[in-house]
Amino acid sequence: MVRREIALAMRYLPLERSKDILLQIAKGYDGKDRYYLEAFGIGCTDKEAKMYQILKKQNQGSKFDPIYSGLVWRLHPASSIRELKQWAMDQKLDHSIRRSMLFSISLIEAPQAAQAMVEIARSGTDQTASLAKVFIDKRDQGIWNTYKAKDMLRGGKASDTSYVDRLAPTSFGPETKLPNSDKILALRGDAQSGKKQVGRCYVCHKVGSVGVEFGPTLAGWGSGRDRKTILKAILDPSADLAHGYEGTELIVKGDKRIQGFVQAEGDPLVIRVFGGDDLVIAATDIKSRKKMSSSLMAPASQLGLDTQQVRDIVEYLKQN
Ligand code: HEC
Repeated sequence: MVRREIALAMRYLPLERSKDILLQIAKGYDGKDRYYLEAFGIGCTDKEAKMYQILKKQNQGSKFDPIYSGLVWRLHPASSIRELKQWAMDQKLDHSIRRSMLFSISLIEAPQAAQAMVEIARSGTDQTASLAKVFIDKRDQGIWNTYKAKDMLRGGKASDTSYVDRLAPTSFGPETKLPNSDKILALRGDAQSGKKQVGRCYVCHKVGSVGVEFGPTLAGWGSGRDRKTILKAILDPSADLAHGYEGTELIVKGDKRIQGFVQAEGDPLVIRVFGGDDLVIAATDIKSRKKMSSSLMAPASQLGLDTQQVRDIVEYLKQN
């Protein structure tokens, strides 16, 4: 019981702070208790791909196992499609298990998921294959609409993935002139007003239960730091990148640029882009890849904040 509560509490914590506990919780899973598994899943919110990568490494080999496969089933990041598909197609497994794997695949918003489902549907005439067709039908009207899975099922080729540029914006308004940090800190900060201003950061940060998880979660981040350090992180993000937040820039098919944070290595690669989406990219579509030395966060002067507002945000982060 207690472990479930702890799992749920991990939900808003970044991976670095929750990883060890989540792994402990994963260890405690008995392969049966759905409530426990659900709590683990909620605890892994927005960290699914990274947790999967760690569990997979620890598990070695992807034979079906009620505990490991159950955990993967609940996390079902796009990088797990191959394993889920393998279990869905394993004729030695019970239909109910294979069905639950289909269900998991059907929740993944990626063309590779639609394609896997088509391959399962075309693999035979048994119950699982027919059920895969039902899933294709259902998702075709929803999250898989653009992937043309129904055409694929009828023998059409997999639709070519086309990409668009996905860059983190470098500016969110006219540039503001900000004085040096001593001058900013000499002002009196108002945490209440800072709380309101922090709304601008939600496009990239989760603060408690609101916001998008692109950059690190900010709840509790500032309380253990001095105001000068907090201010520096906002004024000059590139000076000191948050641990684990070195950006990656890919050039993909069609010479499109994609910037973000790699969630899962391998083929396909999963990368989180501005807006919080996880893009799933086939290795053959990647032309080049480089690490970015500058931050994917725009500095305060590009966030449309004036001096007092910056000071207020520092105060808010300090007190939360
Ligand atoms: C365009 C997206 C974006 C916006 C908007 C943005 N940030 Fe960030 N932020 C990031 C990213 C990405 C990182 C991680 C890289 C780095 O450390 O610079 C980050 C890092 C940080 C850090 C350092 C955290 C750590 O663990 O070291 C702080 C503090 C921070 N942001 C505060 C803010 C505040 C406050 C705002 C709003 C006024 C804001 N950010 C707006 C993307 C953004």
